[in-house]
Amino acid sequence: MMKGLILAGGLGTRLRPLSHTGPKQLIPIANKPVLHYIIEDLKNSGITDIGIIVGYTEERIKHIVDSCGDGSKFGVKITYIKQDAPRGLAHAVYTAKEFLGGENFVVYLGDNIIGEGIKEYVNSFKNSGFDAEILVGEVENPSMYGIVALNKKGVIIGIEEKPKNPKSSLAIVGVYLFKPFIFDIIKKTRLGKGGEFQLTDTLRLIYKSKRYKIKAHIVKGWWDDTGTAEAVLRANHLVLAKLKHRIEGKVEKNVSITGAVHIGKGTVIKSGTILKGPVIIGENCSIGPNSYIGPYTSIGDNTTMINSEIESSIVLGSCKLDFNGKIVDSLIGKNVKILSRNKMPRGYKFILGEHSEVNI
Ligand code: DAU
Repeated sequence: MMKGLILAGGLGTRLRPLSHTGPKQLIPIANKPVLHYIIEDLKNSGITDIGIIVGYTEERIKHIVDSCGDGSKFGVKITYIKQDAPRGLAHAVYTAKEFLGGENFVVYLGDNIIGEGIKEYVNSFKNSGFDAEILVGEVENPSMYGIVALNKKGVIIGIEEKPKNPKSSLAIVGVYLFKPFIFDIIKKTRLGKGGEFQLTDTLRLIYKSKRYKIKAHIVKGWWDDTGTAEAVLRANHLVLAKLKHRIEGKVEKNVSITGAVHIGKGTVIKSGTILKGPVIIGENCSIGPNSYIGPYTSIGDNTTMINSEIESSIVLGSCKLDFNGKIVDSLIGKNVKILSRNKMPRGYKFILGEHSEVNI
């Protein structure tokens, strides 16, 4: 039986300050952590024996274990495997050698969302005759990814991690299918860019070898690496585009709702509020009076909003917004307060942690 390995270690530096306390793999997209989408995709592809690489601090590991548990709520079995330090994707895979045993397996990067899922690639891998298969997709900023060049027949002719002068705009998507031979090649992989053992370097050794065969699938539909705030908002947009209308909370009189809106249990939408879907609002929130939530917005549980407007944004949860203004294209962490200050002297008052960003 094929196994799954999700890489959820690493530091998430590009998502600071949100990743200072919580791992980036738990950032919610339409109110569900990225990691849960991945576990569900593996389950849907028939993979129920799943290892998750975790690291590096105990706090990060605890967040992930609390969120995913033993996997039973997803109908899978989860084994947590600790990586001693973020020493690269190839190192992370090698850390799971014992867990993976002699089985074929899928490596799924813990910050990737693949719109159409990976079922068809998993199914075709079993009898494909290839030793390794990867997914690739077009990107606009190839210097931020592993980049693959293909010839006219679709055969890999070049592969490089985050190249300064990219030879193509086809990026390695965070899903790799491997047969167990890969451990021998990882052993031969030298320390690469950023002082990490790069899986991209391992892939290059495979395509250069005469012995092993590797194939690239151009991914159908959308995918996203949720490594930056912009990418998280983009993924939120794409997932919410398919949102189903569902109202479990209470909607008072004089509320205007258009488009698909999901309102969670225990949430109250107060009079004078406008909701323009797609919008998802979690549980036990209080929205309004006199508030507006516009398209492509996700509001996490236990959030209070009064006299405020927000659009195309994510609020993680337990936040308070009461400020007579409008928020756009923003990613707001847990327990954040944004309040009006109608006191003299006039001016903006900030209490911001390290790596915060404010655009006025
Ligand atoms: O998302 C696609 C890209 O992912 C590919 O195009 C690149 O070739 C590939 O190297 C990777 O690049 P990133 O810079 O996005 O990798 P990142 O450091 O974000 O790590 C990906 C996942 O693996 C993330 O969930 C953290 C985890 N990880 C990372 C390292 C370095 C580990 O579990 N252990 C590690 O040592």
